Amino acid sequence: MVKTGRLSGKNDSMNQKLRIISIVVAIAFSCSAGWAQRVSKQTQMNEFVTALMKKMTLDEKLGQLNLITPAARTGPFATKNATAKMMDGSAGNVFGVLGTPSSVHSKLSLADSSRLKIPLLSGLDIIHGYKTIFPIPLGLSCTWDSTLIERTARIAAVEATAAGYNWTFSPMVDITRDPRWGRVMEGSGEDPFLGSIIARAMVKGYQGKDLKDPTSLMACIKHFGMYGAAEAGRDYNTTDMSRLSMYQNYLPPYKAAVDAGAGSVMCSFNEVDGIPATANKWLLTDLLRNQWGFNGFVVTDYNAVQELIAHGVAADYKQAAQLSLSAGVDMDMVSESMIASLKDLLKAGKVSMAQIDAACSRVLEAKYKLGLLSGSARQFDAARAAQVTLTDENKSIAKLAALKSFVLLENKNNTLPLKKNTHIALIGPFANNQREMFSSWVIAGDVKSVVTIYDGIRAKASETIYAEGSQVNDDTITIKKRGGSFDSLKQQRMIKEAVDAAQKSDVIVTVLGESSTMSGEARSRTDISIPHCQRELLKALKSTGKPVILLLLNGRPLTIQEDLLYTDAVVEIWRPGTEAGNAIADVLFGDYNPSGKLTMTFPRSVGQIPVYYNHKNTGRPYLGKQEYVSSYMDQYNSPLYSFGYGLSYTTFKYSQISLSDTLLRGTKAKLKATITVTNSGSYAGEETVQLYLNDPVASVTRPVEELKHFQKVFLKPGESKQVTFDITANDLKFFNSNLKWDWEAGRFVVFIGGGSDMVKTAGFVWEK
Ligand code: BGC
Repeated sequence: MVKTGRLSGKNDSMNQKLRIISIVVAIAFSCSAGWAQRVSKQTQMNEFVTALMKKMTLDEKLGQLNLITPAARTGPFATKNATAKMMDGSAGNVFGVLGTPSSVHSKLSLADSSRLKIPLLSGLDIIHGYKTIFPIPLGLSCTWDSTLIERTARIAAVEATAAGYNWTFSPMVDITRDPRWGRVMEGSGEDPFLGSIIARAMVKGYQGKDLKDPTSLMACIKHFGMYGAAEAGRDYNTTDMSRLSMYQNYLPPYKAAVDAGAGSVMCSFNEVDGIPATANKWLLTDLLRNQWGFNGFVVTDYNAVQELIAHGVAADYKQAAQLSLSAGVDMDMVSESMIASLKDLLKAGKVSMAQIDAACSRVLEAKYKLGLLSGSARQFDAARAAQVTLTDENKSIAKLAALKSFVLLENKNNTLPLKKNTHIALIGPFANNQREMFSSWVIAGDVKSVVTIYDGIRAKASETIYAEGSQVNDDTITIKKRGGSFDSLKQQRMIKEAVDAAQKSDVIVTVLGESSTMSGEARSRTDISIPHCQRELLKALKSTGKPVILLLLNGRPLTIQEDLLYTDAVVEIWRPGTEAGNAIADVLFGDYNPSGKLTMTFPRSVGQIPVYYNHKNTGRPYLGKQEYVSSYMDQYNSPLYSFGYGLSYTTFKYSQISLSDTLLRGTKAKLKATITVTNSGSYAGEETVQLYLNDPVASVTRPVEELKHFQKVFLKPGESKQVTFDITANDLKFFNSNLKWDWEAGRFVVFIGGGSDMVKTAGFVWEK
């Protein structure tokens, strides 16, 4: 028996070894097979593109560098004679074509009349959905759910490709710390770690597994780079920051999207280190291509080549085109400076044929990767368009995304959730409006498909009365600069009507904030409060003595400190999209327990901006009542709501942190940080458990905390779960003053909790 046992033990271990060897060999083989396959695909593409380019005239090549738009939907002007240009090949790419799928298809087929019939890249700003509209990206990021976000991007891709588009100008991955900037709504907030996760998810969602798949949409990472740091939050303004801050805080999401395989990058309007991004060789070639290995193409932003003149780096459009091509731009959006001048510049020896060929081949490679150059791969399919658009399943994902994006900011005395038989007065200029559930970045969405807040609530509580209550904005400068009107007599009547309605009800639900045109591109504001006329309505509602629930509809963090005096509960609903009303009703009546967590800090006042959670300590941190420390005389340092904040109808209790070790050594060590989270309230709910690290002593100053991990847990009332995070030396890394991504030995602090300022802490030492 013993002998047999020992023998079989030997056999087992031999078998084990053989198994391991065969697995290693299989992996090596499949890796090298995968590698060989990639190389051969690359070779095939190069051969194809080279052969095609041999047939092309210089004019035809320049056409591929030209991106036009038939309508000025998102910029100051449209392209003249767009149809003719698509037909003769002088515009190889188009964006912003709208219509029914078949009319879009016929416009996109215009290139069939050109000599070589090279299909167009057909772009569109599909920012948070094509026909099925999801919450704005800032709202989506508050779900902290990359799988769901990837799903929304996939749905957008499936719907949009069926209608003939093959390219989206998304994801917008700019880090944003200044809510005065209207474009914060298009991104994922202030944190580079979370921003990177979301950037990857969106690229994967749009592009699918293979760009050749007819449902894949090529992604375009924008706006490269640092566009989110526009000075004073004024759109298109200068950005100026250290390389260290770029590398540490702003570049990671662009890099993550590049690593995820995004096919294109859009350079930004702003300057970087004194050179506009469009003409910035360091940015577009040294960093993007040479350091990061990006192998797609670079498109400018709208008319940005021409704008080099106003920036003051080019004397005329010819010089602007020369600078752009030389910096690494492959495609000129709308300005047509390249097509108008590259021939002359070539003759004058100011640009080379090799530069033009390189740009042209990158654009053709994109078309090849999308399968546009292989005939049948991208045939328009009207039946598919009808089948995949605005389906029940798509709408159910839109509803889920909206539900998960809502952030419960306040809930005094458990005002929410409401009982279904509550008599509600629903008040506010956005409460019964379909278009206002979208943002200014919904270009193709179907307004008629939107469930208004009124309809959503009425489906659950028939005793709901509605009054508009207020006009949107009475700010005289906005009205003067942007149009619109305000009628004060009408306003008094509206408020009275709303108060009358409120008096007949048990509770007031009011939807206030910004209209869809108050955030987005070119929508910077210096005063980011709820417009004064709406606040007057809010005060009047509060004076009725009824509980007031404020649903905040907006595209940026607002300064709502004063409004809290007139409210009992506040839910941030962002701009929720197609399923707005259904999702809001579920939250109001407790059919869904809100779980969103802020991804951008809410300031107490505009004077605090920029205020963000991962700030530095300074040499004189404010620790209480002191003189000569870093603080305001008239304001707290802390924001109103910090990154990661969000309440629930239930409460979550956190235990102390338990660490697997307090002294670690070397790059391979692993630390386990465990915490027990208990649902200590009476509703089931989801919590996002967040882990932050701080490196108190390093060769360069480090933020007071940085998000490194998070996990979601769903807990029934009374239920507890242990949540364990693996911390590795990688999590300790940062960019040092040589811009090297590395870690330094020393003491560290770990914070775990349900928000960046609601945490338990523990410490450990990690040696080299
Ligand atoms: C915006 C881009 C957008 C482009 C095309 C520009 O004005 O900055 O984000 O993709 O227009 O619509």
